[in-house]
Amino acid sequence: MKINFGAFRLIWYIGMLITATYAVVDAPFRLVVNISPQGWTLCLDHVVTIMFFLDIAFHFFFPVHVEGRWITDTKTISKKYRQESLYIDLIAAIPFDLILAAILPEHFTQLILASRMLRLMKIPRLWHYKKYFEYSLKLNFAIFRLIFFLYMLGLIAHWIACGWYYITIDTFPDNYLVRYFNSLYWCITTLTTVGYGDITPVTTIQQAYTMVVMLLGVGVYGYVIGNIASIMGNLDIAKSVHQEKVEKINDFMVSNHLPQDVQRRVKDYFSYLWDTRKGYDEASVFADLPESFKIEFSLFLNKDILERVPLFKGASNAFIKDVVMCLQSSLYLPGDAVCRFGEIGDKMYFVNKGTVEVKNMEETLTYTTLQSGDFFGEVALLMSTPRNATIRAKDYCELYYLDKHDFDRVLERYPEFKKEIEKQAKDRLHQ
Ligand code: CMP
Repeated sequence: MKINFGAFRLIWYIGMLITATYAVVDAPFRLVVNISPQGWTLCLDHVVTIMFFLDIAFHFFFPVHVEGRWITDTKTISKKYRQESLYIDLIAAIPFDLILAAILPEHFTQLILASRMLRLMKIPRLWHYKKYFEYSLKLNFAIFRLIFFLYMLGLIAHWIACGWYYITIDTFPDNYLVRYFNSLYWCITTLTTVGYGDITPVTTIQQAYTMVVMLLGVGVYGYVIGNIASIMGNLDIAKSVHQEKVEKINDFMVSNHLPQDVQRRVKDYFSYLWDTRKGYDEASVFADLPESFKIEFSLFLNKDILERVPLFKGASNAFIKDVVMCLQSSLYLPGDAVCRFGEIGDKMYFVNKGTVEVKNMEETLTYTTLQSGDFFGEVALLMSTPRNATIRAKDYCELYYLDKHDFDRVLERYPEFKKEIEKQAKDRLHQ
C-alpha cells in the first residue's frame, strides 16, 4: 500500500520545528536560571518527549530522497534512518532528567537540569526540516533563506546569552528575567561588534568568554552582512538579471549614438518582455534540462498555441511533440516588419498573441489581418518562391516560428499536415 505522506509530513515538520525550537531554547535557559520545569511547563516537557518519540516512529515510514529518487520501501527507509540519525534522535527524546530525578537525591538539581541539554542533539534536525520546507513550500528561496538565517541567529544569540548569564551569575540583579535580558543585551552588542562597554567582563573566565564571543562576533558580523547582501541580491534574481541586461544595452545604444526612436523601441521591447515573461528567454531556461523535460515544458508552455492553431487540432501526439520541440518564439513591436515582399523566406510563422497585417509590396493595401491561431510564411517555403506579401505587426505580437529545415522535416514525416498546408497556401495564392 502506498501512502501519500506529503501534506501530513509538512504539518508534522512544522509541529516538530516549533517543538524542537522550544526544547533547544528551554534546556539551556533552565540550566542557567536553575529552575526545574513545574506545572504547565512540566506538561510542555512531556509533550516534547512524546513528539520526539513520535518523530522517531514516523521516520521509519517517511520516504527518503536518495540520488534524485524518492524511496518508499520501508525496509530501506528504516535501514537508512538507523544508519544516519536514529540514535541521535533517541538521545534527544529520552527524558533523562525524569530518570535522574527518580534515582538521584534533590540536591542534584543542576545535574538533572544539565541532562536536559541532550535535547540539543535535535539541532541538526532543524536543517533537515529547512530542506524539506524548501522542497515542498512554494516560497521564494531567498526570502526563505533569510527567515531561516535570522531564526538561527536568534538561537545562537540565546545560547551565548545563556552562557554569559551562567558565568556572571553574581554580578547581575536578582530577577532572573532581568538578568537574562541583560545577558542578551550584552550578547547582541558584543556579537554585532558595537560593544558599548556598559557591561564589562570582570573575572578571567568572563574575559576569556568575551574574547571568544568577540572573535565569533567578527565572523558572525561578516557572515550576516555578506549573507544578507547576497540574499537581498537574490530576492528577485529574474529582475536583477533583466535590469543588468537592459542597462548594458542602454549603455551600448547611448555610447554608439543610436537614433532616439530605435532606443525607445528597444526599451519598449524589454519592458514588454518583462511584463509578459519576466524577462526569461525560453531557450536559455531549457538549455540545462534533459530532453524529456524539454518536451514536457514545451508542451505546457506552448499549450495555448496548440489549442489556437486549427491546423494542430486533432493532430497525433507524435506530430504535436515533433512540432512543439521545433517551435521558437519571437516578439514584435507595433509597426515591426516580420517579413517583406520579395525576400527569401526561411521561416513559417504562427500567431500566438497580437495581430499582423498582410500588405502588398508598396504597403498601400492591406489584404487581410491575421490573428491568434493563424499562420503565414508557408508559401515561400512550399513553393521556393520569394515572399508574396509584407507582414507587419499591428500591435505587440508573440509569434512562433518553424525554420525551413524543421518545416521540411515535419512535412516529410506527416503527409496529412503537408496536404492541409498546401491546400491553404493554394487558396491564398488564388486570393
Ligand atoms: P509567404 O509568401 O512565404 O510570405 C508572405 C505570406 O503572407 C505568405 O507566405 C502567406 O502566408 C501570407 N499571405 C499572402 N497573401 C495572403 C492572403 N491574401 N491572406 C492571408 N495570408 C496571405
